[in-house]
Amino acid sequence: FGEQIIFKETLPSTQPEAHQLAQQGAPAGTIVICEEQTSGRGRMQREWKSQKGKGIWMSVILRPNVPPYEAPQFTLVAAVAIAKAIEEVADIRPEIKWPNDLLIDGLKITGILTELQADPDRVNALIMGIGINVNHETDDFPEDIRDIATSLKLQTGKEIDRAKLIARILLHLENYSNMYVESGFQPIKKEWENYSCTIGQQIKVSTINEVFYGKAVAITNDGVLKVQLPDGETRSVYSADIEISK
Ligand code: BTN
Repeated sequence: FGEQIIFKETLPSTQPEAHQLAQQGAPAGTIVICEEQTSGRGRMQREWKSQKGKGIWMSVILRPNVPPYEAPQFTLVAAVAIAKAIEEVADIRPEIKWPNDLLIDGLKITGILTELQADPDRVNALIMGIGINVNHETDDFPEDIRDIATSLKLQTGKEIDRAKLIARILLHLENYSNMYVESGFQPIKKEWENYSCTIGQQIKVSTINEVFYGKAVAITNDGVLKVQLPDGETRSVYSADIEISK
């Protein structure tokens, strides 16, 4: 991974660039990265603030040979890869909030946006958008997210070498996604669980169709979140936004 790197000073978002390259046949491991995004995007059509020079704003093209319904698993795989890279480079241990957030001290440090180019039965490309708040000071965050976001610098008191972090992320992402394609989520599950701050918590689950409350009891070998409702019924959650109750 990282043999082909497209670097731009400013982009609206790295995602559409990476989509276009993937459509043109760019190989797995191609990355699009920039110093600043002017309209970075998050999950659920949310905006993603991407201040110049402060973070890592990149999209990685993956081409796993899997059916489209397995695509969400790659968000979990990427979360483990990034958590491990952060731990090695910044010497601080992030937590994973299912499915796509990395938190430190309950505050968001990383978001992952997995998008898909696929036929009905096969993935052509996964566009893995990764946003990491690295060297932000408090004032760099807009006021409305200061109480939910943080940076590695704010958490460690140190300026973090972004190039080093990117290199470790790409290495782990390549290894873990190969592992997933060969053996599924199961061999990665233990590490995911060790980083998880979700299992065992009371959570609010918001899907496209409904909102419900329950306890996150487990992640399955397929990466599906099991939530137990107050009446004892257990639901499988494949895609949703969750909030952990304090
Ligand atoms: C989320 O938490 O909602 C996901 C955020 C993903 C942000 C990254 S930054 C690089 C890539 N380009 C974008 O526009 N978004 C992703």
